Amino acid sequence: MLTNKTIVLGITGGIAAYKAVDIASKLTQAGANVRVIMTKSALEFITPLTFESITGNAVVTDMFQTNAEHRINHVALSEIADVIVIAPATANIIARIACGMADDMLACTVLATKAPVIISPSMHTNMYENSITQENIAKLKERGFTIIEPSAGRLASGGYGIGRLPDTEVIIGAIQQTLGKSGNLKGKRIVVTAGGTQEDIDPVRYIGNRSSGKMGYAIAEAARDRGANVTLITTPTALAIPEGIKTVTVRSALQMKDVVVKATAKADVLLMAAAVADYTPKTTAKQKIKKGAGGLTLELVKTPDIISEVKGKFLKIGFAAETQNLLANAKKKLASKGLDMIVANDVTSKGSGFGTDTNKVTLISKDGKQESLPLMSKREVAEKLMDRVGKMIGKKR
Ligand code: C5P
Repeated sequence: MLTNKTIVLGITGGIAAYKAVDIASKLTQAGANVRVIMTKSALEFITPLTFESITGNAVVTDMFQTNAEHRINHVALSEIADVIVIAPATANIIARIACGMADDMLACTVLATKAPVIISPSMHTNMYENSITQENIAKLKERGFTIIEPSAGRLASGGYGIGRLPDTEVIIGAIQQTLGKSGNLKGKRIVVTAGGTQEDIDPVRYIGNRSSGKMGYAIAEAARDRGANVTLITTPTALAIPEGIKTVTVRSALQMKDVVVKATAKADVLLMAAAVADYTPKTTAKQKIKKGAGGLTLELVKTPDIISEVKGKFLKIGFAAETQNLLANAKKKLASKGLDMIVANDVTSKGSGFGTDTNKVTLISKDGKQESLPLMSKREVAEKLMDRVGKMIGKKR
């Protein structure tokens, strides 16, 4: 996705400038051509040498550079950029851009470009909340700039508040989403479920399963990065909520069903990667169940089979996590649940299934087409799936 993309990374004079090193590094590792522009104030916080070493490209700091090796036409980067990202962006650069100024290389590049621009404001809370900054941000949003909301936490000044630069993953997520806007799922509404449901026994305990949510999150991100409008319905997991994806957190199978029904009212695709409990305690004890002398028997009742019961014209794609007779069981589920495709997943095979970063699956469609994929990362599995989804949507219309 980021391979061979030219990303102009603008760095301004905030304490978070050091975090831009991580952003430049991860983008470069992902195959992007990262071209850094630093403002004069950014140079007070960090040196160009750091970025030059990481990106392998000269860093531009001056519009009037006389050193021939580093000299560059004032609009050159604006023309080659696939996307421009300013992280961190101070109140000052935001104000200058909002006024249409071109008084340094970064402002000039933004003014001259036709590429999408992402701005990640980072500053002291009072400066961020100042109505002038807010008006400038609103103006940029209106003009089509993407603004990444700063996160809240401890600030360099010692206080707590909003104004921190979000994690690198959030910023890279916004870049991927922007680059993927015209992908093969452009404008499609995709609902993805992820994680393992939790069925309460009492206020302290629940029946859960080993799903980590990694496969579902990878699918949601892959769909987002192809231009889809994604809703992720997730149980609590250890994973970070992805940028640019509407996320709803649920716990039980019943709660998940309610949210899936609402979310699919206008959906093109439902992809159920969640491991949904088949049974739930008949009653949930109001107080913590005390240990007694003997054993404890729980009465369980069936949960609704969400993917079978939810009705609509959208494509239905399910997962079959199996420990034996993988393909036969998966095919049975494909038919009995009325699915368009099922992703068969042997959770006992090495590097596959719960909690791992890789997966080995077989895609089986309603028309009998069967494709066994080798062991690959969950993101790669998600990309293969999205290739298929793109083709299937085309046929369904
Ligand atoms: O029957 P089994 O649980 O193996 O089916 C797996 C598929 O069905 C998955 O896509 C899962 O998300 C979905 N499912 C469901 N509602 C349930 C149980 C499973 O939608 N109650």
